Amino acid sequence: MHRVLVIGASGQIGSELVDALVDAHGAANVVAGDLRAAATPSAVQFVTLDTLDAARLREVVAQHRIDHVYQLAALLSAVGEAAPLQTWTLNVNALLNVLELAREGRVARVFWPSSIAAFGPRSQRDDTPQATVMDPGTMYGVTKVAGERLCEYYFRRFGVDVRSVRYPGVLGSRTPPGGGTTDYAIEMFQAAKRGEPYRCFLGPDTRLPMIGMPDVLRATLELMEADAAQLGVHASYNLAASSFTPAELHAAIRRFAPGFEVTYAPDFRQAIADSWPRTIDDGEARSDWGWRPQFDFEGLVAHMWEAIPRDWPLPGSGS
Ligand SMILES: NC(=O)c1ccc[n+]([C@@H]2O[C@H](COP(=O)([O-])OP(=O)(O)OC[C@H]3O[C@@H](n4cnc5c(N)ncnc54)[C@H](O)[C@@H]3O)[C@@H](O)[C@H]2O)c1
Repeated sequence: MHRVLVIGASGQIGSELVDALVDAHGAANVVAGDLRAAATPSAVQFVTLDTLDAARLREVVAQHRIDHVYQLAALLSAVGEAAPLQTWTLNVNALLNVLELAREGRVARVFWPSSIAAFGPRSQRDDTPQATVMDPGTMYGVTKVAGERLCEYYFRRFGVDVRSVRYPGVLGSRTPPGGGTTDYAIEMFQAAKRGEPYRCFLGPDTRLPMIGMPDVLRATLELMEADAAQLGVHASYNLAASSFTPAELHAAIRRFAPGFEVTYAPDFRQAIADSWPRTIDDGEARSDWGWRPQFDFEGLVAHMWEAIPRDWPLPGSGS
């Protein structure tokens, strides 16, 4: 049982992570922090928090006797390209503020997600290994590589217990995605559920690593509960579930919605997707802390078809 703070708790992942943490630690031990409250309020205590305000963050941690922090606040890949400086400031300083709290001994453990966006055009794109060239072309990817280096630095230099995975594109069904290059997959489900056609912003054969929210939540909680002595990676673990293309997803959704039509009009996000891995080698997560995805591609599609509400707003803008 821990006292946990989720920063970025109203976002696509945070809003579902809060409920998974309530199941694990009890509602009285979970605090949700964000600039804005979630559209669907959870039973936990919400605090208005700008995590760039280090003094306010310190106050929230002390007041609620927090020992584990999940730092999710970020600007994602596609929206990040519209505001690169703001993306650097938020993504890097939000992590630094939490790492500093851990260095000062005010919190015991930190979770922070990296992304497949930390890879780039010279990274190996198939079965991308844990350690390879990392030359991201987006500011979002640059902040993820910087964040990974900071996590490893704070571990080695100060003994900070910070844990991280490189999430693939995340498919959730509670909160619409926040502006990433893999959002097309969720948007495709949204359109199909509404009985509308979908114009995809990536080409039909763009293969990307993806993961369903139940696997994201399990991976996050399992890594945070793992014995520290088992963890050999102190930057960020590769994590994989399934990889698929828009055309494969379209065909799989048509089993549930036979008339569903998709057209393709690639935009600036195509170049981002083309610089990312197609498939990921997550062997170290599997051997160090026992990671296994529950959903394969077919299972994920069936789960999402059930879970996505028919009345969700259409796109919006995750990886
Ligand atoms: N969604 C994905 O597909 C995906 C893939 C890889 C990695 N990730 C990572 O997971 C994390 C969460 O992603 P998400 O999809 O839930 O993002 P999101 O954009 O849906 O949510 C981010 C949340 O952070 C909040 N926030 C922004 N600035 C803040 C500040 N200064 N103080 C407090 N809160 C602030 C926003 O209000 C928002 O609710 C991010 O670090 C992201 O890089 C996500």
